[in-house]
Amino acid sequence: MVKKNACVFISGRGSNLKSLILNTRDYNFPVNIKLIISNKKQARGIIYAKKFKIPYIIIDTQNSLFEKKLLNEINKKKISLICLAGYMKILSKNFINSYRGKIINIHPSLLPKYKGTNTFKRILKNRETITGCTVHYVDKKLDSGKIIIKKKINLSHNDNEASLKRKTQILEYRAFSEAISKIYK
Ligand code: GRF
Repeated sequence: MVKKNACVFISGRGSNLKSLILNTRDYNFPVNIKLIISNKKQARGIIYAKKFKIPYIIIDTQNSLFEKKLLNEINKKKISLICLAGYMKILSKNFINSYRGKIINIHPSLLPKYKGTNTFKRILKNRETITGCTVHYVDKKLDSGKIIIKKKINLSHNDNEASLKRKTQILEYRAFSEAISKIYK
């Protein structure tokens, strides 16, 4: 199969990035990751770029020229899909417009519930019994674009932030890859 080129944006641990990289080894998985972008020099996920020899760029979002440079690199590598995997920075309107319908994000709740940050804390506080994760297209509003896939899990009364995060992330690894396969079906 002719695979499309994808780019993954991270800010932290990169466990979703790792899972995506491993899935790209599957012949039937529709994308290869050709570029990794981090807005944090210390993001742990950069180790996966190094380990799997995938080009990566650390961007300085304070520098007004960063976006131009970024768009340039993404165009050069003929990227058709941008995956936000724990990228903790809001993208500019200009960037979103340039890649309309090609940017997807993974969020650790069943959207439209619990948009934004501190998701697990809020879910536990509200004593939800079911939660999950969502992969959606990115538009100008936070965590609001068209939903591609949602996956659910049950919460137990003794769940805490750590256990909820662990459970949700395991679900995310499947959801992200299934969403990408669904896009190219
Ligand atoms: C994920 O839980 C995702 O839902 C959220 O950020 C987290 C990133 O985790 N957007 P990791 O860096 O992939 O481990």
